[in-house]
Amino acid sequence: MENKINQIRTEAIEKIEKTTNLKELEEVKNQYLSRNSEFNNLKKSMKDLTPEQKPVIGALINKVSNELNTLVAQKNDLFYKKELNEKLLKEKIDITMDGDYIPLGHVHPLTRTVNEIVEIFNHLGFSLINPEFSPEVELEKFNFDLLNVPKEHPARDVQDTFYCANLPNVVLRSQTSNAQARQMINSNPPIKIISPGRVYRNESVSARKNNLFHQIEGLYVDKDVTMAQLKGVLNEFIRLYFGSSRPTRYRSSFFPFTEPSVEIDVECIMCKGKGCSVCSGSGWLEILGAGMVDPNVLKGVNIDPETYSGFAFGMGVERLAMLKYAIDDIRLFFNDDEKFLKQF
Ligand code: DAH
Repeated sequence: MENKINQIRTEAIEKIEKTTNLKELEEVKNQYLSRNSEFNNLKKSMKDLTPEQKPVIGALINKVSNELNTLVAQKNDLFYKKELNEKLLKEKIDITMDGDYIPLGHVHPLTRTVNEIVEIFNHLGFSLINPEFSPEVELEKFNFDLLNVPKEHPARDVQDTFYCANLPNVVLRSQTSNAQARQMINSNPPIKIISPGRVYRNESVSARKNNLFHQIEGLYVDKDVTMAQLKGVLNEFIRLYFGSSRPTRYRSSFFPFTEPSVEIDVECIMCKGKGCSVCSGSGWLEILGAGMVDPNVLKGVNIDPETYSGFAFGMGVERLAMLKYAIDDIRLFFNDDEKFLKQF
C-alpha cells in the first residue's frame, strides 16, 4: 500500500508540474484529489489494514494529500495571476486614442429665435397660448371675420390665402392673429398671451418671401390698457432682442383689427441707416405691426369695449432672425443646408 501511495504521489507531482494553465491543473486535481480518485479510494481501504499499519499509512496519506494540495494551490495561484495579467494586457484601453466623432444636432435658427422671443415675452408677463386656440388649418371666421377683415378685403383673395378645395370657409391661416379671436372667444379678460406658429400665403418664392413662414402674435386685454403700455412693452422687447443700441421708430399704419395701428421699424442692420438695397434705400426695416384692439373686434367676441381695452401685435420670425443674424435669403431657413444650419 505504501508503494502504491508513493507511486501515485510521484505520478501526480509529475503531472502537476507539467500543467501549463488553470484548465489542465483542474483536470489533474480531479484525477488525483477528487472524491472518487484512486488516491481517495485508498483511504477507504484503510479499514482492511492491521492496527499497527493504520497510523503509519494514515500519516502517509495525510502527508501526501497535504503535499499535493499545496502544490496544486501554488500552481493555481501562479496560473491565476498569469491569466489575469494576460487578460489585462489584452483588454487594455488606450486612452490616448482618438474617440469616434458623434455629430451633435443643432437647434434650428427659427426655433432658436422663437424660443428667445417667447422667453422675452414670458419675462414681460405674457403666457404661451394653449395650442388649441392657435390652429394652422382655420375657419375664415377666425382668420378674417372676427378680426374685422371685410369680405371684400384683398387679403382674402385666393392670390394671398390658401383655401381648402373641398371645404368651404376653411383656409390655411394667413396670420397668427386667428389665435387672438379664438383666445378671446374662449376666455375672459385679463388676457395676456403670446402665440407663435406657422402661417401660409400664396406668394411667389424669392429671397425675401416664402409661402410658409412663422409669426408670433401677442395680445393683452384688460381694464385700462393703453397705447403707452403697448410702447413700453414693445420697446422693452426690442431692447432685449436686439440690444439697447438699436434705433427704433413708430409709423402710423392700418390693420383692420386695430385702431390706431402702428408699424415699428428698426435701423437697417446692413447699412446702419445710410440706405442700401436691403432696406430699399430708406435706412429702416419694418419688424412688427401693432395697435389697440379695435372695439369692433372686442364686440365680436363678446367683450365689452366700454369696460375693456387691449393691444395686439404681430411679428415675422424669419424677418427677426434675418435681421439679428444678417441672413440675406429667407429660403436658407427651409432647404436643410447643413453648412448654414451648423452655424447656429
Ligand atoms: N397679422 C398682421 C400681419 O400678418 C400683423 C399684425 C399687425 C398683428 C397688427 C397684430 C396687430 O396683432 O395688432 O401682417
